[in-house]
Amino acid sequence: MKKVGVAILGLGVVGGGTYRILESHREFYQKTQNVDIFVESVLEIKREKALALGVPEEKIASNIAEVVADPDVQIVVEVIGGIEAAREYVLAALHAGKTVVTSNKELYCKYSHELEAAAKRHNAGLYYEGSCVGGVPIIRTLLDGLQANGIESVVGIINGTTNYILTKMGNEGASYEDALKEAQALGYAEADPSSDVDGYDASYKLSILASLAFHTKIPLSQVYREGIASVSAEDVRYGKQLGYVLKLLAVGKNTAEGIEVRVHPAFVPASHPLASVNDAFNAVLVHGDAVGDVMLYGRGAGELPTGSAVVSDVIYAATHSENKYSPFKNSEEAEKDVKFVSDFKSCYYLRMTVTDHAGVLGKIASALGKFGVSVGELIQERNRGAGTATLVLVTHGTAESAIRNAAAKIDELDIAKVDAVLRVAF
Ligand code: HSE
Repeated sequence: MKKVGVAILGLGVVGGGTYRILESHREFYQKTQNVDIFVESVLEIKREKALALGVPEEKIASNIAEVVADPDVQIVVEVIGGIEAAREYVLAALHAGKTVVTSNKELYCKYSHELEAAAKRHNAGLYYEGSCVGGVPIIRTLLDGLQANGIESVVGIINGTTNYILTKMGNEGASYEDALKEAQALGYAEADPSSDVDGYDASYKLSILASLAFHTKIPLSQVYREGIASVSAEDVRYGKQLGYVLKLLAVGKNTAEGIEVRVHPAFVPASHPLASVNDAFNAVLVHGDAVGDVMLYGRGAGELPTGSAVVSDVIYAATHSENKYSPFKNSEEAEKDVKFVSDFKSCYYLRMTVTDHAGVLGKIASALGKFGVSVGELIQERNRGAGTATLVLVTHGTAESAIRNAAAKIDELDIAKVDAVLRVAF
C-alpha cells in the first residue's frame, strides 16, 4: 500500500483537529482510500501542546528546515495562520517539492499567485479547502461538482462569529456589545475581533470563492467590505417587524455589466433559506446556469469541522498523482478585460429621525424621488415628547449611488437625520 507522510505546522485548533482525525482514521483510510497516511512530524513551538495531544516526542520537529529535509514527508499541512511565518514555511515546503495543504485564507487570498507559481515550478500540489467555510466542502464543489455550469452567483454567510452575534441580536434583542462579549466568552471571537466583525475574514474567503466560481482572479482590493460593528439592536428589531433577518452576507455575482463582490450586513427575507442559518453556522448558495440553486450548510469553523476539510485535501493529494491548480490565470491583479461593478443595485432599508411637522414626509419623498428612489414599505413611529418621529422605509431596487445621494440630500434638509442605511437582499 502506498505510504504518505504528513507534517503538520501548528497545533492550534485546526492543527489539533487535523492531527486527531489523521490519527483516529488511519486504518479507515487504509481500507477506504487504499493509502496509508501517517503523521511523520509536527512543528509546534509549545512542545507541551504537542505532547498533550499524544504526539510522540521524536515526531516534534525543531524547525522548518528539519521538516522540509525529511524525505518521508510528502505533504506539509500549514495551519499556523497569520502571514509572515506561514508564507515563509509554505514557500520552503513548496521549494522542496512538498505538496502543501493550507487552511490560511488570508495567506491564500493575498499570495495565491506566488504560492501557485512556486508549486508549479517544483511540481508540488497546493490545496486550500480548509481556508473557506470550515467543514463545508465549497471549494471542491466549485472545482469538481459544479464545473458543468457557468456560475452566476455565490452568496453566503461565511463568517460564524458575526452570524452568532447577529443571531443573538435578532432572537434575543441583545445589543451588539453584549452579543460580541458572549461570542468572545464562547471562544468564537478573538480578543481583537476586528478580522471577523469588520468583515476581513469574509472578504478573504469571498475573494477565493469568487475567483473559483467566475474563473478569473478576484483580488481582495476589488471586494467591497463593510462589517457589523455599527449595527444597532433597533435596526435588527425594525427589520424583524418588516419580515427580515439581518446577516453578514458575502455576495459574488457575475452579471452582464461585470463582476460584483461585496461583504456587508444585509436584511434577508425571513422565508429565504439563508435566513434560517443561525448561530455560528455558515451556508453558501451557488447559482449555476444549468443546475440552478445549490446550497451548502455546515460548521464554518472549529477543530474537527475545519480538520475535516484539511484532511480531505490531504487525502486528495495522497491519492492523486497529478496536481490540480487554479482553473484561471492566477495572477496578482485582475485580468485587464474583467469589469467590476462598484455601483451595484439593491433594495435599501433606511431609518431616520424626522421632525414631526406637516410636509416633512412630502419633502423626504421628494428627495428620494429626485434620485429615482422608490419606496416599497414604510413604518412611522412617533417619539412622544420629543417632537420627532422615527421613519423606517424599504426602497425598491436602486443603485447604491442613488441611495447615498438621496440620504445626503435628506440630511441637508434639516428636518431629518438618516441614522442607518442597510441593504436588503433578494
Ligand atoms: N473566524 C472565522 C469565523 C472562522 O468566525 O467564521 C475562521 O475563518
